[in-house]
Amino acid sequence: MSATPGPSSADAALAPEQQAIQAVMQALNTLYTDPDNNAKASANTWLQNFQQTSEAWQTANALLLASELPLEPRLFAAQTFRTKITFDLEQVPRPQRVALRDTLLTALSAYASGPRVIQTQLSLALSGLALQLDESEWPTVVPAMIERYGSNPETVPILLEFLTVLPEEVITNHRIPVDNDFYHTRCHFLLSAAAPEILKLLSMYVQASGLTSQIQTGIFQCLRSWLKSGEISAGQMADTPLFDLSFDALASDELFDVATDVVCDLINETQEVEENMDTIQRVLARLHPLRQELAAAGDDEDKVRGLCRIFVQAGESYYRIILRHPNELLPVVEAIAECTAYHDLDIVQITFRFWYLLSGALGHAYGQPEAQRFYPLYERLLEIIIRHLRFPDDPDALTGQERDDFRSFRHFMGDTLKDCCHVLGSRQCLSRSLSLIQTTIAQSTPETLKWQDVEAPLFSMRAMGAEADPRDDEVLPQIIHIIPTLPDHPKLKYAGLLVLSRYTEWIDMHPDQIPAQLSYISAGLDQAGSDVTAAAAQAMNFLCQDCHRHLVPYLPQLYDFFRSVNDKLGPDDLVAISEGIAHVIAGMQSSEAPQALMQFAQPLLEALNQVAAQQGAGKDELRKAADRMEQLEKMLGVIGSSLARHLPQACGKTCEEAYAVLDRMLAAHGHVYFVSERACALLRRGLSFFGALAGGSLVPLLERLATCFEQTGFPGYVWITGKCIDQFGRDASLPVTAALQGASDRVNAKVVQLLDNTMPAEMGDVLDDYMHTSLAVLQSVPAVLLLSPSFPHVFRATLAALTLLKTETTATALDLVLAIVGHDSLTVSRIQGDATPSETSAYAAAIRQVVAQHGFQLTSTLLNGLVTQFSPEVMPVVVTTLKVLTGSFATEMHAWIPPIVEQLPTAYVPEKDKQAFVQRYMQALAGNSLDQVKLAINALYAASRKARERTRTDRDAGPSALLDR
Ligand SMILES: *[C@@H]1O[C@H](CO)[C@@H](O)[C@H](O)[C@H]1NC(C)=O
Repeated sequence: MSATPGPSSADAALAPEQQAIQAVMQALNTLYTDPDNNAKASANTWLQNFQQTSEAWQTANALLLASELPLEPRLFAAQTFRTKITFDLEQVPRPQRVALRDTLLTALSAYASGPRVIQTQLSLALSGLALQLDESEWPTVVPAMIERYGSNPETVPILLEFLTVLPEEVITNHRIPVDNDFYHTRCHFLLSAAAPEILKLLSMYVQASGLTSQIQTGIFQCLRSWLKSGEISAGQMADTPLFDLSFDALASDELFDVATDVVCDLINETQEVEENMDTIQRVLARLHPLRQELAAAGDDEDKVRGLCRIFVQAGESYYRIILRHPNELLPVVEAIAECTAYHDLDIVQITFRFWYLLSGALGHAYGQPEAQRFYPLYERLLEIIIRHLRFPDDPDALTGQERDDFRSFRHFMGDTLKDCCHVLGSRQCLSRSLSLIQTTIAQSTPETLKWQDVEAPLFSMRAMGAEADPRDDEVLPQIIHIIPTLPDHPKLKYAGLLVLSRYTEWIDMHPDQIPAQLSYISAGLDQAGSDVTAAAAQAMNFLCQDCHRHLVPYLPQLYDFFRSVNDKLGPDDLVAISEGIAHVIAGMQSSEAPQALMQFAQPLLEALNQVAAQQGAGKDELRKAADRMEQLEKMLGVIGSSLARHLPQACGKTCEEAYAVLDRMLAAHGHVYFVSERACALLRRGLSFFGALAGGSLVPLLERLATCFEQTGFPGYVWITGKCIDQFGRDASLPVTAALQGASDRVNAKVVQLLDNTMPAEMGDVLDDYMHTSLAVLQSVPAVLLLSPSFPHVFRATLAALTLLKTETTATALDLVLAIVGHDSLTVSRIQGDATPSETSAYAAAIRQVVAQHGFQLTSTLLNGLVTQFSPEVMPVVVTTLKVLTGSFATEMHAWIPPIVEQLPTAYVPEKDKQAFVQRYMQALAGNSLDQVKLAINALYAASRKARERTRTDRDAGPSALLDR
């Protein structure tokens, strides 16, 4: 660590090793106790850097053996060994690696009595070393460890710890650099070849007398580790006393948890049922008595949870053979049903996946006698779930959090109801829910009726709606009829309307029901200010969508209704209703639809016009205007551009009138942010709805947008300008092109001005839209971008956008950069389309000039982003861009690359990788091979990922992770 002075002012009189220890201690002290976060962060960085040095081996060993020190430095030392063995073993010359092993073994012995965290880190370090040493260096790992630590009760805990972490580390620590062949050989040697010995050892231990429960737990943990790794099979375990003793251990309070885990792992390892039949028979024999345990566990939730996990594990592992072996497996399924019926919903949900899996298996065998045996269980399941769905008698007694949990859990349970439908048929399930409602109502008076008893089955009908067959003529008519007759309670109205929303397809087949349902829904909308209106609005939306062809005659009625609700309902409900009506209109003949749309749009536009005329409109009025714009936007969104080609020419006038309203709105209130957002979204829909007919409004529109943007700097105006250019730029008439040019120049000037006064990160939204817009300009009217005096400014703004930590913005900015530096004009004399040769060469000249000016910074931004913060998904574009730059600007790149690479942050690209890249890149350039350029860049990227990987590991397991322990 000589080159990196630590935060300590180490006493020069101390030996270097002592100085290093002092420095580490001081940095750790800062990390743990300094209130200053900057100091903590720099201490953390210092410790990470220290861990990478080759001196750290020595220091770590000294710290580890200094038993008088507090825990933290010693744990840090153990962890340093683990990290270095993963990443830095090459720092230790081969002949010294055996000595390193012995150092670690000595340390492990010293920690035989704890603390456990240090034992774990040392065991991980030894495991990582065992994987990397070959047979000549460490010939017999597992047997030697057993011999060294296995016969002394004092050292058995560290042996078990080592044997527990070994399979995990060898199998999952992919950062250890060993090549494939070596890995497989070594892995076989360390694990598969050693497995029988492990079984023997654990069997012997588990039968020893006088074991502490701590050691017993250690034995089971070790067994789990080997089972999970697949190195010990269920069958092998079943041949040892470990099998029965694991089940026996369930009877012990102290061992119950670990025994549950072992049994679950064992069962999970018998999933290949055909190969494990014998073991499975024995497992089932041990499971049956556990049903009594489950019944007896009562309110002991931990016990119930453990037993339920075991039964569910069995159910999930064996569900494919349940139909073939019903006698053996039915009891398991029944036990799982008991778990589902338990009162604690956390335990209930453990079982859901099983019911889903089994419903699949039963679905395949629909109607067959073996399957039918299980139907009563699903009938019971249905009732259990409906019982869990029931709100408590006093829902106000729930806390807010409990209520939210309960709500989301109800939806979760809905999936299990669908599984019931899958098995029993939706008709049977729905009629069960229906009869629960009927019975409740028949058995109560209005005074005794509890809404909860009706609401739960009603909710279940909604959940099962997706499974229902809209052609059903037995149950669905009864459901549709009973809903409007239910007792008058808001919860029942709410649930009833949502059920109705689910069955609008059925209503579509029974249009005679429409008047009754329309009036039920309208009545719901009158209950202003409650959840009920939201449900009613949704019901209206679905009814309109699904029954649109029958609703056309009702349009006059809907129109009156529409006018009456506009001032009463909240925005979301209005949007839902407007969408519904738009669906009715969208289904009409194209000769009639525009007229109908105009009729419904009229009151909305009028309302807008009123607010636009009010200079001093208050926030409430503006909100209302924004809501009207959102309604219009959603209506146009449903209709889309489908009518654009069918609109009569006369509609051009309508378009102008509608635009005039919006124009007044923007002139008066365009400086209000939410007005700008809504207006721009509506303009977008309007442009696609009217299509070519919107051309006439385009010139004043672009003018207005540019003015609004100049005055406010709001991103929406940039965004919609880009949409106009995208839609109308390609074949624009001269006046429109001039308007595009004018708007584009004004937007550019404003962005430049903003960038002069604001940090890019603070104007991320504007930059994001600006990148999209500039790309649209380049693609549809290149002259407007490339030949504009503001082109260099656009390029600078693009470089600013590249530094934002937002992947979408970076991606768009990169697309723009690539579209510029890879522009066809650089490589061909006349580009496709209508550019003349002289235009083409003017484009090329403009691009060359901009790259000459800003190319160094561009390349530097790209390379820095490549090795630091760009997201992996944009890497292909970065690499292509650098390659294209190299192709078109070879001389410049030759000069730029070395100084840029020199300055890349060393934490992300180690010196040796920098040098390797520059050398490789220059060779590729000299050989004129762009493919080689690409390979060189990819190698640089790979090197940076490796360096980052280490930083990430350090974050997970490094010094600062100690804080979380
Ligand atoms: C069960 O085994 C599979 C592999 O067969 C594994 O992916 C899964 O995580 C295991 N489940 C449990 C609960 O350990």
